[in-house]
Amino acid sequence: MSVDVESKFPEGRRLVSVLFADILGFSTLADQLDPEIVSGLMRDLWSRLNKIVEEHGGFVDKQLGDSIMVIWGVPESLEDDAERAVSASLELLIGLNKFKENTEYSEAKTLQLRMGIHTGLALAGNVGIHGEYTVLGNTVRIAQRMEENAEPGSLVVSEATYQSIRGAFQVKRLTPVQLVGTKKLVNIFQILEELPQPTKLRYRSKGGLKTILVGREEEMARLEDLFQHTRQQNKTQLVLVTGDVGVGKSRLLFEFAGQLETENPLLTVMSSRALKQTSQVPFYLWKELWSNRFDLNEDDPVESARKKTIDGVLTLWGQALGEVTAVEAAHFLGDQIGVTWDKSRYLEPFNTDPKLRIERSFLLQAELFNRASQRGPVVLILDDLQWADSGSLAMINYLWKSADREIPLLILSCARTEFIKENLEIFQDVEQIELKPLPVSSEIVRDAYPALKEAPDSLLSALAERAEGNPYFLEEMVKNVLGSKGFSLEEKDELPVLPGSVEELLQSRLDSLSMEGRATAFFAAIAGRVFWKGAVLAAFRGSPGVTKALDVSSHNIVGKVQVALDELMEMELAFLRVGSAFSGEREYIFKHSLLQEQAYQRLPENLQAECHLVIAEWLAERVGLERSVCVANHFEAAGVYDQAQAYYTKAAEHARAKGYDKEADDLQYHARTLPENNFGQGEK
Ligand SMILES: Nc1ncnc2c1ncn2[C@@H]1O[C@H](COP(=O)(O)OP(=O)(O)O)[C@@H](O)[C@H]1O
Ligand SMILES: [Mg+2]
Repeated sequence: MSVDVESKFPEGRRLVSVLFADILGFSTLADQLDPEIVSGLMRDLWSRLNKIVEEHGGFVDKQLGDSIMVIWGVPESLEDDAERAVSASLELLIGLNKFKENTEYSEAKTLQLRMGIHTGLALAGNVGIHGEYTVLGNTVRIAQRMEENAEPGSLVVSEATYQSIRGAFQVKRLTPVQLVGTKKLVNIFQILEELPQPTKLRYRSKGGLKTILVGREEEMARLEDLFQHTRQQNKTQLVLVTGDVGVGKSRLLFEFAGQLETENPLLTVMSSRALKQTSQVPFYLWKELWSNRFDLNEDDPVESARKKTIDGVLTLWGQALGEVTAVEAAHFLGDQIGVTWDKSRYLEPFNTDPKLRIERSFLLQAELFNRASQRGPVVLILDDLQWADSGSLAMINYLWKSADREIPLLILSCARTEFIKENLEIFQDVEQIELKPLPVSSEIVRDAYPALKEAPDSLLSALAERAEGNPYFLEEMVKNVLGSKGFSLEEKDELPVLPGSVEELLQSRLDSLSMEGRATAFFAAIAGRVFWKGAVLAAFRGSPGVTKALDVSSHNIVGKVQVALDELMEMELAFLRVGSAFSGEREYIFKHSLLQEQAYQRLPENLQAECHLVIAEWLAERVGLERSVCVANHFEAAGVYDQAQAYYTKAAEHARAKGYDKEADDLQYHARTLPENNFGQGEK
């Protein structure tokens, strides 16, 4: 029994989200009404509020008369603790309102809630006054301070909480405040409401190293100018951020979107990322953007996919009348991204000319953005264009070149430096922001990583020099140093050994994983930069050669894989994505494409092939026609050429039907030129 209690209530420093909620107007009530009535009322109210908190997985830590403290992250910590804390708090507001509507005592109608949340590390354990389980530390005090800064009827959160819930809620940046005992101003945010669809820019992580954006003031200012310009000129603006791997392109756009979000409550951000693993899927970039927005899954039943698409289009389309209807737009949009319609009267006239159908689809999607931007600024974030297919690029071009249509749309994109040279016909006149390496200086390192505030200058300069201004290299190195055994910031004379290259560093980060963690990273890397828990599990079960080589037993695989995935998240090597291509499948993404490449290379070729086959079969069961090329890629890598050929052919036919002739030709050619005999045929 005692063992049970212990495992349920873990001790130690843990990442938690703490909510303070105060009911205002309680003492006035106590003066006006009979004490028995007051206590009856409060009991009723608290039981309602507690129920809401518990439904959202919160642990009610303390209740003191008119206030409560609730913790998320104990006994169990999940990636979405902060999000659940914020959702619960918004529900509490609704709960109080309902209570006020129903109560017979008009005096109780003046009650109001004031709430604050902070997310951070706290000491958890049986450390309460009476030895009860609770959490202690600065995190708790900051949460309380957030609450004190909230207006009655509102919820205020700290920067750390905001960073964890970004993109899921509409927020407003408030005037920074001072914390007791410090001179420094800290950012605070008011939560307005839950967003209909969270943006996929955001990943869910488990705490992690706090980093501050450094050395990009000019670029941020330029982006801000471009945003204002787009609105004033009423014209679509295309911005391309270019730079080397890991120089900070994605981070810049992420930070900028965050700044816009807190300054423009009516802003709509939609985002998508091209991936190497889907670079042959026609129109993938936009498919992903709309799927995120409409919450579409690859395996949705067709009726449900249609409904989600129509509802999603309607919301953006609005009420204004026009020549075309939202339904027509939904049909043309859906048609491009794999949502099929039964005998659509809109699409049918275009059956014989897929090129015209694409054009009309582009036009209607542009109109959709146009209508959405009438209600507030719309910003699109398109990452990693170097892996975008030509159809996706064509639509970017279309939106941009039809700039005379007066759509105030800001398209922020990024790509590796070489990309622009290879795509001059579209991108030669864009607003280009070329990201240079960060300055090599110890101050930059100190500013970027608060955890190194006290570190000796010699260490900081060594890190800066080794990283050569590449923030990804720098960040992984900092994590390595901070996480290495026996390292302490106090020992000033001895510098830790720093790796010679990013690749070497990433390998050593992978080496520091547990055996299962490493195997999971390898399997995941076979699937691609984006992977699914189910695919990893399938690989564990279906590649005995690999599990044997890596020396992991197949006992309790499901549990082990989840623990391993959590380990990857805790080490910030991978993150959980918001939403997933497949319903009920947790979707993850490697922190960086470089890391995925490094993990991939760790398996010898014959073992890679074994895993590719499992992944091919796993995908084949789940994907629609659009992604058949991904299945083909895996069969090819597995050396199962007959299957690869079948899937390439399918993909080619699909591309042809959609009007992507060039892709169709390439795929068909590829299918024809595959080797005749399967690799190692007869062995399997
Ligand atoms: N200016 C910066 N200040 C602090 N950290 C940064 C900065 N730019 C990038 N980083 C960090 O470096 C890593 C790589 O950045 P990322 O934007 O993914 O690179 P890219 O997209 O150019 O490959 C990320 O972890 C990111 O948070
Ligand atoms: Mg990037």
